[in-house]
Amino acid sequence: MPASTTATPYGTLPPASPLPQRRPVSLPRLQQMREAGDKITMLTAYDATFAAVADAAGVECLLVGDSLGMVCQGLASTVGVTLETMIYHTDSVARGLRRVQGTAWVVSDLPFGSYHESKEQAMRSASALMHAGAHMVKLEGGGWTTETVRFLVERGIPVCAHLGLTPQTVHALGGYRVQGKSEQAAQTLRRHAHELQDAGATMVVLEMVPAELATELTQELTHCHTIGIGAGNGTAGQVLVLHDMLGMNLGKMAKFVHNFMQDAGSVRGAMEAYVRAVKAGAFPDNALHAW
Ligand code: KIV
Repeated sequence: MPASTTATPYGTLPPASPLPQRRPVSLPRLQQMREAGDKITMLTAYDATFAAVADAAGVECLLVGDSLGMVCQGLASTVGVTLETMIYHTDSVARGLRRVQGTAWVVSDLPFGSYHESKEQAMRSASALMHAGAHMVKLEGGGWTTETVRFLVERGIPVCAHLGLTPQTVHALGGYRVQGKSEQAAQTLRRHAHELQDAGATMVVLEMVPAELATELTQELTHCHTIGIGAGNGTAGQVLVLHDMLGMNLGKMAKFVHNFMQDAGSVRGAMEAYVRAVKAGAFPDNALHAW
């Protein structure tokens, strides 16, 4: 078989362009990176072109985040994002990656109301995102979500959890505030994180969590990779919202964001600078971007 074709157990797919040099990102690959101390990079992506550019810039994981409700749809929060919208954007990102034979790992958000009723509802919603091209689904919260995570993982769906500031519950939390600051809140967050790892979650986003707590959790959760946003530089990886890191935030920039566009000549340059900074441990800087 020519070196440039892709073998699958069901046939051979001729590539449209030469195969990439990089290996596709997979769960074993993420675990290897983790063990090698190689920081995992993630950015949000909502469309085909940005997904392809981020992939070319070396970003390993693309999150089709429900933050698209704010940055693409102009909503006030992520609460109004529907499953149909998430499917549309997941499909666009996956198609963009396929066009360029991209290697990134695609994580897609289960939106508010799409997994809260029952494990069966979560399975139906997660399946729809996987059909659209996601490799992993993300859901917010701990405690009650644990059994849902177990249910999905047992059925072959990789799951990323999301703890700390969980934007879908912003109204219950009373605003976008740092979470896990008190001893009791930190203990609850730690318990939830361990339960989620035990249930099979292989990734957890820690959003607006004190850096010390996020670092401790990273050391404790050896098989569930912590991806920080506003959680300091001790996590296994980092994520930022695309528009934020390109300096395209219409409101006040959050403390944990850095504008990588200001010193870059292009979007791809900004993404490459982000990847370099995360890999080198230079971003985030705990003195500037963390609590
Ligand atoms: O929706 C999103 O973009 C997210 C990130 C903030 C982690 O969940």
